Amino acid sequence: MNRLKTRLMGLDWKNPVLTASGTFGSGLEFSPYYDISLLGGVVVKGTTLEPRDGNPPGRVVETPAGLLNCIGLQNGGVDHLLEVVLPEIRNVDTRFVVNISGNTTDDYALLTDKLNVDSVDAIEVNISCPNVKHGGLAFGTVAEDAFQVTRAVRQATEKPFFVKLSPNVTDITEIALAVEEGGADGISLINTLLGMAIDVENRRPLLSNTFAGLSGPAVKPVGLRMVYQVYQKVRIPIIGLGGIMTGLDALEYIMAGASAIQVGTANLVNPMAALHIVEELEQYCEQQGIDNISQLVGAAH
Ligand SMILES: Cc1cc2nc3c(=O)[nH]c(=O)nc-3n(C[C@H](O)[C@H](O)[C@H](O)COP(=O)(O)O)c2cc1C
Repeated sequence: MNRLKTRLMGLDWKNPVLTASGTFGSGLEFSPYYDISLLGGVVVKGTTLEPRDGNPPGRVVETPAGLLNCIGLQNGGVDHLLEVVLPEIRNVDTRFVVNISGNTTDDYALLTDKLNVDSVDAIEVNISCPNVKHGGLAFGTVAEDAFQVTRAVRQATEKPFFVKLSPNVTDITEIALAVEEGGADGISLINTLLGMAIDVENRRPLLSNTFAGLSGPAVKPVGLRMVYQVYQKVRIPIIGLGGIMTGLDALEYIMAGASAIQVGTANLVNPMAALHIVEELEQYCEQQGIDNISQLVGAAH
């Protein structure tokens, strides 16, 4: 019996465990550790139209219960992804999702159009990026901007795509509803929480970008709360993430309403983390006599 088999956004996935963008490279970086085809899917590092160097050094620091990063979307650009990365990973038998970021709505549409190739199974739209035409406010913090980006992506592809929400908002359900109305097939949440650290020796911000994204165990209660709230408001499926380190963390997200989950910072602590989470979910379902994990989605409501 395949208790973890998951049907999501019109696609079959081996299991509901994906790796989170920016924490797992293209997947191949983790191949020396285990067979990544055992995962439900890999969400590839954030991709932009042009190559980006990211922010200067001083980009990552540990906190007592998580990680602060301001990598700044370092990546080789979409053409490099299409010509070099995708051909390398495509013979791995798992789902590949490309995470995209833009400065304008047009950037998102152009990127999506370029990704209309067989080697891409689905697209994740990162809207935690500044909208340069709206004073630098992140798309994901303004419902109308989130709607516009989603609609532009919808018009540019028939592939399944989900929009990744920023937790740095007052009412997450307002943004989730805007994205659903824009035509997204699903929603992933959460991206990192905005934070910072101070270098007390030098009396200035520790990281080069001053502000940085907090991830890891510290953000799990926030992510869970948001998945729980969004599940009550939208009909499209939710992919939950934020601080998932173990199978039990993943189960909490599933019971809050997530149909699938992503593993992020945990990969940096233990490269085997995502595989261990698959195994732990399998064990839980077997012990509890659950035929398919989808039966647990939203169980805590
Ligand atoms: C080093 C690092 C790089 C990241 N890069 C991206 C990215 O390129 N695009 C994106 O949407 N999210 C990115 N994220 C956010 C993660 O995908 C995830 O949403 C967040 O870290 C919360 O999950 P976690 O607590 O399991 O890590 C990054 C996170 C980290 C730690």
